[in-house]
Amino acid sequence: MTVIPRPGLVRETGGSFPLTEPAVSLDPALPAEGYVLDVGDGGVSLRGGSPAGVFYGTRTLRQLLPPDCSTGTVPGVHIEDAPRFGWRGVLLDVARHFMPVAAVLRFIDLAAYHKLNVLHLHLTDDQGWRIEVPGWPRLTSVGARRPRTMLGARQHGLYDDRPHAGHYTDDDLRRIVAYAAQRHVTVVPEIDMPGHMQAAIAAYPQLGNGFTGGVRTSWGISPHVLNMQPSTLDFCRQVLDHVCALFPSPLVSIGGDECPVDEWAAHSDDPHAIQPRFTAEMAAHLATHGRRVLGWDEILAGGAPPDAVIAAWRGFAPIAAAAAAGHDVVACPDVALYLDYRQSDDPGEPTPVGPPLTLADVYAFEPPPSDRLLGAQANVWTEHMESAQRVDYMVYPRLCAFAEVVWSPPERDFTEFRKRLQPHLRRLDALGVNYRPLSGPRPGDARPGAPGNPRTLADRLAELHEMTADLRRTR
Ligand code: ACM
Repeated sequence: MTVIPRPGLVRETGGSFPLTEPAVSLDPALPAEGYVLDVGDGGVSLRGGSPAGVFYGTRTLRQLLPPDCSTGTVPGVHIEDAPRFGWRGVLLDVARHFMPVAAVLRFIDLAAYHKLNVLHLHLTDDQGWRIEVPGWPRLTSVGARRPRTMLGARQHGLYDDRPHAGHYTDDDLRRIVAYAAQRHVTVVPEIDMPGHMQAAIAAYPQLGNGFTGGVRTSWGISPHVLNMQPSTLDFCRQVLDHVCALFPSPLVSIGGDECPVDEWAAHSDDPHAIQPRFTAEMAAHLATHGRRVLGWDEILAGGAPPDAVIAAWRGFAPIAAAAAAGHDVVACPDVALYLDYRQSDDPGEPTPVGPPLTLADVYAFEPPPSDRLLGAQANVWTEHMESAQRVDYMVYPRLCAFAEVVWSPPERDFTEFRKRLQPHLRRLDALGVNYRPLSGPRPGDARPGAPGNPRTLADRLAELHEMTADLRRTR
């Protein structure tokens, strides 16, 4: 079947039946996340390959009811369903804009409703540190707040004049992990390092290379990165120890993207050799906790640790490069799956950045075949999303399209999907989701005070070609 009931995969057996408590059983012969759902004279029966399979069956059952679940009758169906990929992920950046716990729980609930099973939680960045670490209180007392925030793309140099702050307590994070687990979603935490660390360095200047400024208030990449003193590596290990204590995920991300070497070049003849050594140290430390390291595709440069999983984001080229280097890979090419990119050329789109990435574009995404491909992930970077409502607008309905790509067989027809999406949007209405209307932005969706920087796809592809030159050299 699918995320949104899809003809051909749903066998309509006729009739309409009262919704009864499903008779649930486990059937180890089914794929672990698969299920078989029958609605007929015998009532509702649901067999799952595991509790996750049963859960996905219940999501489908909910979609067979009217959008507001107002009647207690279900059409007669026989559905045999299982996902195509084991990693059906979405990244939420809570560093650029903090999201209160309730909003994160709602984000998880909606993702799980669409049968996604990974929340990659980007907890730290130059613009904010959102997790407490024992013994390092300034990470949150200093690193979790900034005095103001850039408004729109950095080319315009505009700012608001409001402080922005927020972080999660250990209990908050345990609650998020538990809530996700109940919905068969694994929360994969990310501590982005050794670059994207300005907030931590603002809190503890001894981690840096002489920088004594504050948490970054503008977007873009900070030049201020970690030094490689033994005490700094020890700090990183302590952070990862705490992350491992809170998050049971078998994978932990250390990020590793966009780390400028300029500060290291001042006292090293081979600054490009530094990050690979750092990554190896952190991977070895995670291994002592029985965890594998996840990193952005930049960690391929100079050789990633053998067991590392690569989140391939700089266009499509790193997907094959990671697999060729012997790594498991999660495909998240920006040009296909970055949901901060603008949804159309309409001048009313809020803070339009990146090349256009329409609903049809996301639905057309197909990862290149590879036996190292774990699945794919849509990434929600929140520089220009200051509220849960804004996140909804950028995420839905594109995440519905993505969810089908990673769950369903590869044969897809956008026109047919768009038809099925209409009743699904009524479900999102009933759930209070502020999705982008198919007809385009409403007047109030614009952010006139936060202008963007729209790009063409050709421009972005040329830039990506330059950015991934390191991978071509590595190979
Ligand atoms: C990234 O978008 N810098 C991973």
